[in-house]
Amino acid sequence: MTTTTPRLPGGTWTLGDRPVSRFGYGAMQLTGPWVVGPPKDHDEAVAVLRDAVAGGITHIDTAETYGPRVVNELLHEALHPYADGLVIATKVGARRDARGGWPTAREPDQLRAQVDDNLETLGVDVLDLVNLRLGDADGPVAGPIAPAFETLVDLQQQGIIRHLGVSNATPDQVDEARGIAPIVSVQNMYNLANRQDDPLIDRLAAEGVAYVPFFPLGGFSPLQSEVLSTVAARLGSTPMSVALAWLLRRSPNILLIPGTSSRAHLSENIEGATVVLSDNDLLDLEGIGG
Ligand SMILES: NC(=O)c1ccc[n+]([C@@H]2O[C@H](COP(=O)([O-])OP(=O)(O)OC[C@H]3O[C@@H](n4cnc5c(N)ncnc54)[C@H](OP(=O)(O)O)[C@@H]3O)[C@@H](O)[C@H]2O)c1
Repeated sequence: MTTTTPRLPGGTWTLGDRPVSRFGYGAMQLTGPWVVGPPKDHDEAVAVLRDAVAGGITHIDTAETYGPRVVNELLHEALHPYADGLVIATKVGARRDARGGWPTAREPDQLRAQVDDNLETLGVDVLDLVNLRLGDADGPVAGPIAPAFETLVDLQQQGIIRHLGVSNATPDQVDEARGIAPIVSVQNMYNLANRQDDPLIDRLAAEGVAYVPFFPLGGFSPLQSEVLSTVAARLGSTPMSVALAWLLRRSPNILLIPGTSSRAHLSENIEGATVVLSDNDLLDLEGIGG
């Protein structure tokens, strides 16, 4: 399932029917504070997106709720018409309220409206990959997902969604979705310090489904660990680089979508994720999450 690409660390993964770089890009950071409003530096945001694609990244994660609209409109401005091999993944299942909150919005008419909004802001006729975002801001919440997921399956059958995934999901919800229709990815919070999905990742790897960790660098609270800093110093690297390299090593079905609003960090992350971890490094890093 994986092949080597000379340009980006991690090679490629076939997401549904299309090969994507395992080193992708998460676009949520291209807004104002708390994912509301325009970015501080509009031109830099556009440049980050163009650099990402010029550097070989073919998997970008977005959502119409980022801004809202802001990130999708930036993607359109920077990259439309989209390159043939580029896969843009988006999410539905929440909306934004006046205080910047993320209330659930998973009724069928709400999901259809969100799919339409994504089509419009991205400027496409078909969405490459739509994740049904479950749970709430605190994480996954157990419970049935059938009515919401079936709405997306219906839109997929109408031809306006190519592939489906789930996000912020419990393992049971992943199974429930897969009992209804094929999914190509699960996007959950996971990083060196948050290892709750270890069994799920291994199971999905065996079944050819991608696992896309959000907050790979810790998100709003950057990863901080003495062990991580020690391993990074030993390798002449940085904690962020080691965290990304570890994810690429963790399992071949892991696709990275680290977020950044800066070209300097983007290239630092791409370069940094090439760092080679020894068995000793891996043993030390294993201790952080458990
Ligand atoms: N499905 C969901 O519910 C969900 C939830 C959250 C996020 N996501 C997706 O996951 C993606 C990744 O998550 P994220 O962006 O929130 O968190 P992240 O990738 O873990 O971390 C991003 C943060 O790390 C900083 N950073 C990046 N590279 C750095 C470097 N080399 N040195 C120092 N700081 C660095 C960024 O700041 P700078 O901008 O200054 O570089 C930013 O503050 C998002 O972009 C979004 O697409 C999905």
